[in-house]
Amino acid sequence: MTGISKTEKQTTLSGIQPSGKLHIGNYLGALRQFPELQSNYDAYFMIADEHSLTEDYEPADKPAQILDVVAWFLAAGLNPRSSKIFLQSFVPEHAELTWIFSCVTPIGELERMTQYKDKASRQTKNVNAGLFIYPILQAADILLYKPLIVPIGEDQTQHLEFTRMIARRFNRRFGETFPEPRPRYTTVPRLMSFNDPLKKMSKLWPCGCIFLEDSPMVIAEKISRAVTDTSPTPGEMSPGVKNLFLLLKEFSDAATIKHFEKAHADGSIRYSDLKTALAKDIAKNLAPFQKKYVTLIKQPKKLMAVLKSGSQKARRVAQKTLTEVKQKIGLP
Ligand code: TRP
Repeated sequence: MTGISKTEKQTTLSGIQPSGKLHIGNYLGALRQFPELQSNYDAYFMIADEHSLTEDYEPADKPAQILDVVAWFLAAGLNPRSSKIFLQSFVPEHAELTWIFSCVTPIGELERMTQYKDKASRQTKNVNAGLFIYPILQAADILLYKPLIVPIGEDQTQHLEFTRMIARRFNRRFGETFPEPRPRYTTVPRLMSFNDPLKKMSKLWPCGCIFLEDSPMVIAEKISRAVTDTSPTPGEMSPGVKNLFLLLKEFSDAATIKHFEKAHADGSIRYSDLKTALAKDIAKNLAPFQKKYVTLIKQPKKLMAVLKSGSQKARRVAQKTLTEVKQKIGLP
């Protein structure tokens, strides 16, 4: 036999919050890798709707935000027959394991989390307890499926370290149960906002952020306004220019990259040319993907059916783990 059978594949799990429009950071950091994960792993792709409740939101917007992520998942090339595409809240074991894990988590570990501190300082009127125990829910998301690999961006390092700590503590207290998952870092650079290149690109500043659904015109418009520097200094790059080059490396071909690198090095670069080329290449890369999305988003019933059947598959695995956990901790 040459092919690897399904059971021999390692497990992996990725999660994304449905909390607004997805942008090119989500594409480079997650969606772009999904087809490869799907073929090489026993892969779970989760929509973390419960995590998204920790931020300010409108209940009426949530269902569409969830289906939007499913549509992008499918547009990215996920096949619901080979991957488990599922909704966190359709698998109640996530919330249940969160409680159990919270009983082996020292409060001090939660207080150290930088994402919690960031968010608490940003949404001062809504520092809810969910924000505080967010990492425990994430540990439950991951450990329920016992993956060996979790693909993450740099910003999730601390959450994965926390997950490994929970696994260790649980295993030490109740016996070997969870493998410690390893991060697989995606090669994405930290994208910065076009209008303030010292800040991370975020949906919170839409003018400095390219959304996956942006048209070529909108993309060109946003990039044309990107902050660069007044005169290029050979050998030095301002944060804004660096950001444009980062994107160029992700979306353009080798000849284009070389051309602009050379022009920057000898001081002959015109940023308007760089911006035009970059905008064109981003739009070209996104086009096939957007075309699929536009068709899919018109089929909400189909998207919901994908989510339901994926969640049923995920739930069978989650139930098995939770039964094992309950046995180990002494619950009947
Ligand atoms: N916290 C992650 C983020 O904001 C989303 C997430 C929730 C996640 N559960 C997960 C990521 C489990 C990986 C695995 O990006």
